[in-house]
Amino acid sequence: MKLSTRIESIPKYLFAELDEIKRRKIEEGKEIIDLGIGDPDLPTHSIVVQKLVEEASNPQNHRYPSYEGDVSFRKEFVSWYAKRFGVDFSPDEAVVLIGSKEGIAHIHLAFVDSGDTVICPNPAYPVYSIWSRFCGGKVYDVFLREEKDFLLDIESVPSDVLLNAKMLWICYPNNPTAACADEEYYKKIAFYSKKYGFVVAVDLAYSEIYFDENKKPISFFQAVKDKSVPAVEFHSFSKTFSMAGWRVGMAIGNKEVISALRKVKTNTDSGVFRAVQMSAKVALENYDKIVPAIREEYRSRKEKIVPVLRKAGFKFRDPEATFYIWIKCGGDSREFAKMLIEKYGVILTPGVGFGDGGEGFVRISLTTNQIDRAAEILARVSV
Ligand SMILES: Cc1ncc(COP(=O)(O)O)c(C=O)c1O
Repeated sequence: MKLSTRIESIPKYLFAELDEIKRRKIEEGKEIIDLGIGDPDLPTHSIVVQKLVEEASNPQNHRYPSYEGDVSFRKEFVSWYAKRFGVDFSPDEAVVLIGSKEGIAHIHLAFVDSGDTVICPNPAYPVYSIWSRFCGGKVYDVFLREEKDFLLDIESVPSDVLLNAKMLWICYPNNPTAACADEEYYKKIAFYSKKYGFVVAVDLAYSEIYFDENKKPISFFQAVKDKSVPAVEFHSFSKTFSMAGWRVGMAIGNKEVISALRKVKTNTDSGVFRAVQMSAKVALENYDKIVPAIREEYRSRKEKIVPVLRKAGFKFRDPEATFYIWIKCGGDSREFAKMLIEKYGVILTPGVGFGDGGEGFVRISLTTNQIDRAAEILARVSV
């Protein structure tokens, strides 16, 4: 048996040693606090669960769903989008995804041929660069630097790279750095996209997890207000509505880009269980009942942990959005994470897991209900 070069190109798993320490600690019956994974722990709201129960017994939903997603769900999404971001899209400019990850992966099949360049942030959600490589593309990494507010610095990319680029990835509010982008930044990216003709893929998975009503994260199209820019936004129900296990997301954007993604999907998957789509539609209809409470929970967790971390001597920016805190650890992030788990039983994610541009940082995730205990333990740490 010989694996494909595609599979061989996947970066090697870096955390075997950390997993081993965790396994040993658990075996020894030691306390472990996991601040590593970005998997929302809050249950999905009962309104949504109830709707699934109802819809699951409707035989109409037992047949294949439509490829692009139920039109009533897409209608609800574009109407929510118009209210939230002030831009009107038609349901044809949106496609339902099996979680945003599925669309984030498959969009590469629509635009990347062998030898094409994809400009990716580093550190980043690894799916962007892995799928660029799966399609034979070359990844041009742009390190996200603190002095640039962790914004992908498009001006630092040489023009020959821009000329050969088929796609560029950005993600704000950002995983893992928690940085946000403003209108001016998105406008600059749109200008470059139009000048060089690459697709802008915007990951907005965390757009609704913010802490200040007066500083809501903005969307790309909200800033740019020009649907002729070849761009697509990926939205997720996983974080916004605590629905990670349901696997539902939405891509919205430029008509041609959406149509290309649709072509890939029509020939790949057969859509999302309609009962799940109808439940996600109910989630959107009840956004104001559901989402503020989720945000409030993360805000309260953040406010418990931030002063403790500051007192312990950690250096970081207070996040305005996402449920992550991106902390400077100086040197080797894996060694630092190893020390924290060995000495204190606290798991966090070494920054290098998001690419070499993440070295020197670790990521804390607030997706645990053990935040008080985490704060108690972290108060004993001094760096
Ligand atoms: C930045 C980012 N984008 C996308 C996703 C995928 O989310 P989902 O597929 O659950 O919508 C994640 C999940 O952790 C993420 O962190």
